Amino acid sequence: MNSLNASVPFVDLGLPKGCAEHEEILSAISSVLETGQFICGSQTRAFEKKLAAYCGCNHAIGLNSGTDALFFALKIMGIDAGDEVIIPANVFWAVANSVVNCGATPVFADVEPHDMLISARTIAPRITTRTKAIICVHLTGMPCQMDAINEIASPRGIFVIEDAAQALGAVYHGRKAGSLGLIGCFSFHPLKNIGCIGDGGAMVTNNMDIFQRCLQLRNHGLDENASQQVAGYNSRLDEIQAAVLLARLTRIDQIIAAKRKIAAIYKKELSSVCGIVEEGDGRQGVYQLFMVQCKNRDALQKYLSDNGVQTAIHYKRYQHQQKPYRNCDGRHLDVTGILSNTILSLPIRVNMTHKEVMHICRLINLFYG
Ligand SMILES: Cc1ncc(COP(=O)(O)O)c(C=O)c1O
Repeated sequence: MNSLNASVPFVDLGLPKGCAEHEEILSAISSVLETGQFICGSQTRAFEKKLAAYCGCNHAIGLNSGTDALFFALKIMGIDAGDEVIIPANVFWAVANSVVNCGATPVFADVEPHDMLISARTIAPRITTRTKAIICVHLTGMPCQMDAINEIASPRGIFVIEDAAQALGAVYHGRKAGSLGLIGCFSFHPLKNIGCIGDGGAMVTNNMDIFQRCLQLRNHGLDENASQQVAGYNSRLDEIQAAVLLARLTRIDQIIAAKRKIAAIYKKELSSVCGIVEEGDGRQGVYQLFMVQCKNRDALQKYLSDNGVQTAIHYKRYQHQQKPYRNCDGRHLDVTGILSNTILSLPIRVNMTHKEVMHICRLINLFYG
């Protein structure tokens, strides 16, 4: 029986009129309206500076989306037709799409059962003479084992790009996600731990040349003298989104702490009935998502829904099962295949009450009775 009358939503992004954050965002928007500068202004520059410092990188560039960050990262590294890029298959659509949109071929690596992430062990058999890059996706906000991945990539001249879209603030051996490879890519889609009121993304890097080339790509290929260097794109983060992100970035550590607290309850209450990703090995996740591996997943999801708890599956069909990628080799994706039938994302909203979290835990324990 549902002991809590209110249903438990998976997401709840609305900001009621009068609440502190609603007011803060209105004031951020108002200050942009007053300046009259709506793109490439002081808010974007201030956000980029703060983001770079937060990630421990020399440079950050605000972009339209995390998808553009991934696409630009590959473009800047010269990925082209005939090249292969190793990626996981249990991933958001933008990753494989960005590879194909460069003309290159995505090659899927399997993931580790204990953390659902690609690793040096699963990447190694997928490396060929055509491999030019690896995109490490820190799924749910848990960093991949980057030292070992960098160790197999670096002697072969393979570029390591981090998809840190879900991992702003995640820590790996004392360093932040985004600073662990050559280029870090972030999304500020509204569902992320800090999100825009629309679309937004960013790239971070320590490399000055990559930084300058990204600045050109996002603005029609123009350099600082308005001279066109490459055929670029329009992917500027606008000033309103930058102002919102600037305000929200000041709270990122509080948001992460709140989510880690919820995750700790889930781990304690559910570890005997579900598979749960543990930290350790120098990693601290930020729980953009809280994903468990469970038996009878579909029945559990229905049971939770019947009891007013919304859950989600990230992702319902993995990349190698989608129409544009069915020709890619997915035969070796043993663990990925199992995960596609067992993963379930539980609500982990920053404004969740302890009562809601315990209600979900009680239901899941009852289900497995
Ligand atoms: C892992 C991952 N990569 C890339 C993206 C793409 O980001 P965007 O939606 O900002 O284009 C997302 C999510 O939105 C994501 O979760």
